[in-house]
Amino acid sequence: MKFRMLKWRRSALLLMFFALFLCAALAGQETLLKDAYKDQFLIGAAVGERYVLQSSDQAEKALHLLEKEFNCVTSENLMKPASLQPERGRFTFDQADRFVKMAKQMDLAVVGHVLVWHSQTPRWFFEDASGKPLSRDEGIENLRDHIRKVVKRYKGHVKYWDVVNEAVDVRMVDDPDQPPNPDGTPRKKPEAFFRDSPWLRVVGEDYIELAFRFAHEADPKAILIYNDYGMTDPVKVDFVIRNIVRPLKKKGVHIDAVGMQGHWHMESPGLDEIEESIEKLAAAKVKVHITELDLSVLPMAYGYTGADINTRYELQDELNPYKEGIPQEVLEQQAARYRAFFDIFRSHRRDIERVTFWGICDEDSWKNGFPVRGRTDYPLLFDRNYQPKPAYHALAR
Ligand code: GLA
Repeated sequence: MKFRMLKWRRSALLLMFFALFLCAALAGQETLLKDAYKDQFLIGAAVGERYVLQSSDQAEKALHLLEKEFNCVTSENLMKPASLQPERGRFTFDQADRFVKMAKQMDLAVVGHVLVWHSQTPRWFFEDASGKPLSRDEGIENLRDHIRKVVKRYKGHVKYWDVVNEAVDVRMVDDPDQPPNPDGTPRKKPEAFFRDSPWLRVVGEDYIELAFRFAHEADPKAILIYNDYGMTDPVKVDFVIRNIVRPLKKKGVHIDAVGMQGHWHMESPGLDEIEESIEKLAAAKVKVHITELDLSVLPMAYGYTGADINTRYELQDELNPYKEGIPQEVLEQQAARYRAFFDIFRSHRRDIERVTFWGICDEDSWKNGFPVRGRTDYPLLFDRNYQPKPAYHALAR
């Protein structure tokens, strides 16, 4: 009896050691990105003209990675208003159709980007041929017509729509509650406000509400997103919740998610800021989508942390330190920071539906040209030869 107990104990111990060994081995092993997060959130990438419409070695490599590593895709520039309706009533769906078809063949969930934005939107949406601003009714008609035609066309194919992009901005204003500076000038504080976009000027603040209503009418099953940069700034995220999410929900207007673009830097934002914003959005009962993730390794030009594509700074040598190549050490630091982002995302997986990278390889990133033209940045998971970087390994492990 005693002998049998001993034998049993020995087998149990052996089994335990084997299990521990297996766990340790698996912990160090890599899987495909989409598989690594498959029970948590979708993993997406934005691709556009360069890969979808042109055939080249690079396009082949990028599309191979897209199909293999990701389960979701965003239409980069291909579904922006300027691409889909360059002139009133002249819809040019051809390229977007190709994009959607490709996504279907690769079995990727599709994010349509973007229905309503102040940028990459032809002027006819807001003014007549002589440059005179349209009336509110004419503006609403253009808004309705564009959203209706586009969303209906891709009904059942585009699962997620960025309905409105970047409707909120932040500026510094005098703070009357603070004593003045020693030189007598008033202290400043950040204040969020509805961006002075042509949509706001022509239609008024309810253009956001109308856009969400029109999108929902056109495809009641589509998941509708408000998308913006700088969403880790408490002033901005609070404004979005207070002035967009809550009022729309109160009126019964369909808004499912808020997109935090996530064009981030090594120095900013703080991890606590990222986490707090996710928690605030979750408490406001919207899902969080990380919609345009990239992590620049370059010095922040003049402290600019935004992503307003009209911002430009002059190129100076000290702003472009890695034009001949990037030290391994910096890539490792980037990997650790990416990993810290994903640790937060994983711990909030119930609230996060998707994490999308803005591009596939470092060479295609818009960060090479923003906010300073002509720099060499390394913000994504794959290098200029489409090879995985330390950041990729840190996330796939
Ligand atoms: C913003 C937009 C995107 C894209 C990027 C920069 O974040 O939402 O569509 O234009 O800027 O490329």
